[in-house]
Amino acid sequence: MIVAVDGPAGAGKGTITKQVGERLKLLNIDTGAMFRCVTLKLLQEGIDLEEQEKIKDILEVINIELKESGEVFLNGEDVTKKIRKDEVNNLVSPVSVIPIVREKLLALQRTIAEGKNVIMEGRDIGTTVFPNADIKIYLDATPEERAKRRMKQNQEKGMNSSYEEVLENIIDRDKRDSTREIAPLRKAEDAIYIDSTNLKIEEVVEEVVKIVESKKKR
Ligand code: DC
Repeated sequence: MIVAVDGPAGAGKGTITKQVGERLKLLNIDTGAMFRCVTLKLLQEGIDLEEQEKIKDILEVINIELKESGEVFLNGEDVTKKIRKDEVNNLVSPVSVIPIVREKLLALQRTIAEGKNVIMEGRDIGTTVFPNADIKIYLDATPEERAKRRMKQNQEKGMNSSYEEVLENIIDRDKRDSTREIAPLRKAEDAIYIDSTNLKIEEVVEEVVKIVESKKKR
């Protein structure tokens, strides 16, 4: 069983897929974390986005592990916190436009899910990674609401950023993610649209659980 959850930054995909995954015993795969790992590695190595050959070399040896606990390891190093920092936030969208990066991660995403029951979140899961997914959800919310949620998350992690900065980053990322040439952020035609702007986390979780369970019974 493959449940695809797509949507823009801050729509609540991470929180929702984690909880639905736990409830329904589905392996939770955060594909955004994979793009973040590649971005962090390029930053660590000081590689420019124009340096195609160097990026290719990095992709050949990169090892990304997504643990069931939610921890993320990059070449053996725990980078769970590092991949959420502003320097990664600001560069991840341009990195995710690079064709060789998408190609590599697409293959990895399909391999990880092979033979398993998964809930996979990202931007292009229902349209490109698994166009035949059993269930497709498109999770949305207004940019202002999403910025508010990100602010709260950042504060909890002890990170200081202004509301204006977070909102700008979100709007900028949405634009890039939905207008890029390869696998843009887009609702698949057969995806169920959920607007979470005025919903509590539990309400969205309930709705997704219900959708998955009704499909299982059929
Ligand atoms: O979900 P997130 O904010 O962690 O994702 C970070 C970036 O990664 C996002 O701005 C676009 C990119 N991404 C993508 O292009 N395709 C995916 N399936 C997941 C993320």
